Amino acid sequence: MEIIEHITNIFSETFGEKPAHIARAPGRVNLLGEHVDYNDGFVLPAAIDRATYVAFSPTDSDQTTLLAADLNQRASFSTQTIQSKTETDSSPLPDWAHYPAGVMWALLEAKLSTQAMNAVYASNVPRGSGLSSSASVEMAFMIAWQTLGKWILPAMQCALLGQKAENQYVGVNCGIMDQFASACGVENNLLLLDCRSLEWKTIPLPSDVAIVIADTMVRRKLTSGEYNKRRAACEEAVRLLQKDLPHIKSLRDVSVEDFNRFVGKLPEEVSKRARHVVEEIERTSQAESLLEAGNIQHFGKLMNECHASLRDLYEVSCPELDVMVRIAQYLDGCYGARLTGAGFGGCTVNLVALEKAKKFAQTLAEGYQSEAGYQPEIYITRASRGAELLV
Ligand code: GLA
Repeated sequence: MEIIEHITNIFSETFGEKPAHIARAPGRVNLLGEHVDYNDGFVLPAAIDRATYVAFSPTDSDQTTLLAADLNQRASFSTQTIQSKTETDSSPLPDWAHYPAGVMWALLEAKLSTQAMNAVYASNVPRGSGLSSSASVEMAFMIAWQTLGKWILPAMQCALLGQKAENQYVGVNCGIMDQFASACGVENNLLLLDCRSLEWKTIPLPSDVAIVIADTMVRRKLTSGEYNKRRAACEEAVRLLQKDLPHIKSLRDVSVEDFNRFVGKLPEEVSKRARHVVEEIERTSQAESLLEAGNIQHFGKLMNECHASLRDLYEVSCPELDVMVRIAQYLDGCYGARLTGAGFGGCTVNLVALEKAKKFAQTLAEGYQSEAGYQPEIYITRASRGAELLV
């Protein structure tokens, strides 16, 4: 594979020897259950066939040196500098290095060894596109440190430590979905996760449907603030609804019926955010039986409803995502289309009849280009395996 050759060559040029190991961790696409993971809801992602690859070797020095091949930048840190988020020369760590450094931090917090290493990494998960490039970086480094430390943690524990790194070190208050999908992916399967109990199961993707990812090429900017605000609105809704519904711990515990009874007590913006979550959890709870019954038509309809709700109630869409979704929903063979991931730009996910998928991708690209004015990237993805050591 080209990307592996690429990082192997850079590693040899930089460190004067071949890397001892290569790890890989995929990005993810989410089919249903958006912005519900941090509300104890259900999500239905799949790991995709795009990933972050790390070439690495242990080193005797006490400092870890990383080279981000895609950015052509280098950073060094050690257990001494990790807390202050600085490099070994005391300059601040560059933003991109917060993800791997955050993993080291979370591992140290968990009292797991973090052998110093030399590493080169690159990714073909586009950054800021809603496909969890950051989780894929975190999980790839998790595998690297696991390999060198010879400790073994269940994949879900790795995901939780990755989430902790992102919450507490990077500073994004994300849920568990992305790290979970990157760590636990199963080939040709969707993953249904209960974000409260962390129990999960695989659901085979029907063999006659394709997952098509359409990248609007609009990149999210400064979204962590908006993301954290959405999360705060959900918490506010719970606090207010608890006056009438004292048993609820999160929006997961609020039925659509109860929500409609008490919604009048919520400020308008909070009520819109909470309605999305309550109805989205209800939609996702239907997913398993629909997919198992092969009722892709109905499942696709739920995806379309999800997009409308993210656009009008949760307000995390953008004009380009709306154009991409609107065109897709009219095309032959499309069961459902919606934005995927946090929103504010990035990609849409489309469920399409396999035999129509190529034509669909082509027509969608042409339609988007003529309306939005620039060229999208559209590809058929495969549900892939989770994070792993390749060599
Ligand atoms: C981001 C977060 C996830 C999830 C999605 C929205 O990808 O990292 O935890 O909240 O947004 O569903």
